Amino acid sequence: MRVALTGATGFLGLRLVRRLLDRYASLTVLGHAGSGCALSRITRFMELSGAPAALIAELPTRLRVVEIDLCRPELGLPAAEYRRLADELDVIWHCAGNINLDDDLGSLRLTNVEGTRHVLELAASGARRPLVHHIGTAFVGGARREGVVYEDELEDRHGFENSYERSKYEAEVLVRDWSRLHGRPVVVMRPSVLVTDLPPSPGLPQHPLQFLARIVESSARGGGLPERDVPEERRPVVRLAGDPRGHLNLMPVEHAAAVMVRLANRPPSGRADVYHVVHDHDVATTVLTALVERIAPVRVRLVRKRPDQRARLEAAVDLYPGFTPYLSHRRRFDDTRVRSLLGPFSSGIRVDLDYLTAGISTSRTATTAGAP
Ligand SMILES: NC(=O)c1ccc[n+]([C@@H]2O[C@H](COP(=O)([O-])OP(=O)(O)OC[C@H]3O[C@@H](n4cnc5c(N)ncnc54)[C@H](OP(=O)(O)O)[C@@H]3O)[C@@H](O)[C@H]2O)c1
Repeated sequence: MRVALTGATGFLGLRLVRRLLDRYASLTVLGHAGSGCALSRITRFMELSGAPAALIAELPTRLRVVEIDLCRPELGLPAAEYRRLADELDVIWHCAGNINLDDDLGSLRLTNVEGTRHVLELAASGARRPLVHHIGTAFVGGARREGVVYEDELEDRHGFENSYERSKYEAEVLVRDWSRLHGRPVVVMRPSVLVTDLPPSPGLPQHPLQFLARIVESSARGGGLPERDVPEERRPVVRLAGDPRGHLNLMPVEHAAAVMVRLANRPPSGRADVYHVVHDHDVATTVLTALVERIAPVRVRLVRKRPDQRARLEAAVDLYPGFTPYLSHRRRFDDTRVRSLLGPFSSGIRVDLDYLTAGISTSRTATTAGAP
């Protein structure tokens, strides 16, 4: 069985590689051409995440790296190599993408939509009719802030919170249309926000909430923050638009990868099978504001709408505007289909303030936080 994976050096892809190596003797890593040695990045991750020494030693023989550029037709490969790759594959996991919520729509479309189109073309032309596992996102539910988002739903009538969501929506439309047109099964796995408590490390992909630490560090460098030990009452107040009753689904990335590989073991229905890969408990918005307060000496106040006049620090903390709307979300992602296939399960991991702090703490933020 020949299995290939795009995005293997990413936050999720690294964990998928670890899980897929439990199941398959070898994997073809479709690495990002010109972006650094995929094998050494995967090896470094395995070392940092405590993979067995025997597995690490086997990586050079069990992983074959083919460098591609998703954004180019035929993945930027020479014709003969593309043909060979297409004809040898039985399964393609498409996990690569651009996850920068605030990138311009054109760049996001190029990687997320055109990149997906190129992967589907590879699958369409393969002699062995490879099964496609597409990594989508639960956030194709768009700018609907309340209610329940079901696994079957895919529509744009609520609009989107940012261009990333739109590009992922368009990619999933493409995947489902392709499945109908070609009469081929596809598996779409939609995770919520992926998190970890593995501390950040240079050279490894960033945690999606890492931007909080970056903002704190740049504000501290610019002299915009008081000393860490400033008493509570002297900490500046930062107003952010959000709902104090809000909640967000944050899924431990290691558990997400495990669920995805279990789902992939199920026989596909023949159509597009869509699954929400989400945690069984949401995290309160107030935990996220407490996280900001833990890593920076500020007091966060959630307000109904973004203040017209903002202090410099408030503007700085809002430097990732694509994310801020999530502080107003109160919707839930239904995962009935996953539960009915895999049975009721729980990661057993409590995503709380300590868990989140561990995953994003750098030297400065860790001392600021007094974090573990
Ligand atoms: N992170 C989340 O919270 C989250 C939540 C829901 C869904 N997802 C989805 O999960 C998937 C993986 O996300 P992630 O968090 O792992 O992202 P990530 O850490 O940014 O990794 C992205 C991966 O895509 C590769 N890549 C980017 N552009 C490429 C190109 N032009 N050609 C070939 N490879 C390219 C990157 O390679 P290099 O590193 O070498 O550039 C990297 O391996 C994405 O589809 C994302 O939409 C993520």
